Amino acid sequence: MTQRKPIVAGNWKMNGSFELVAEICSEVKKYKNLNVDVIIFPPALLLSEVVKNGIESGTQTISEFDAGAYTGEIQAQLAHELGAKYTLIGHSERRSIFNESDQQVADKFAQAQKSGLTPILCVGETEAEREAAQTEQVVARQIRAVIDKLGIAALNDSVIAYEPVWAIGTGKTATPEQAQAVHKFIRDMLNSYDKQVASSLRILYGGSVNEKNSESLFAQADIDGGLIGGASLKKDAFTSICNSAVGNV
Ligand code: 13P
Repeated sequence: MTQRKPIVAGNWKMNGSFELVAEICSEVKKYKNLNVDVIIFPPALLLSEVVKNGIESGTQTISEFDAGAYTGEIQAQLAHELGAKYTLIGHSERRSIFNESDQQVADKFAQAQKSGLTPILCVGETEAEREAAQTEQVVARQIRAVIDKLGIAALNDSVIAYEPVWAIGTGKTATPEQAQAVHKFIRDMLNSYDKQVASSLRILYGGSVNEKNSESLFAQADIDGGLIGGASLKKDAFTSICNSAVGNV
């Protein structure tokens, strides 16, 4: 099996401050030469601060458009020039609060790659969808929107984050077995398109990950790290999550 380097990504959402950047970045520096990629997704207005601290970073969303009259949007090309390496695409808050469609998510994915950013494609079902046994169908549809537009090869330079909507910010984490089952479903689906993409693509779990549950989640065969919300704002919790990912492939 391909060895996949784990990722621990902190999605700060619309939280954080200049002080928090300094505090978290001084801890995160310690992981530079270890077997984990730690990435911070601060609010866009703090991105340059994270870059200045020499920490891998990304935007929480980008515009699907090239430069133009789109007041308030984040231009992917500029984010890349500023030093961002990654961008989240299709986070559930973008899908539900800002009505991003699968098609728009695919357009943003394309714009990210065109601009030199590595997309982290977020997918996941709502509680109602899980209860209706539609988890696999929803996740497959969200991933297929990208494959249909760009082809399977586009996933070579990308990451997928499985974030069940019912587990985000609720304290209700998927059990390691529940998460692993969906990660395996995603990898099997990719395998039906391209074996190499399926074995090398990193699939992160997100949704109420904390310092107590991270180790058992990351120990699962198809879980290659985490996308962390609330706990990424707390230095001690975040570093212990990073510690539990080191070497866990
Ligand atoms: P929480 O870790 O706060 O549940 O958030 C998860 C998330 O949405 C990360 O993108």
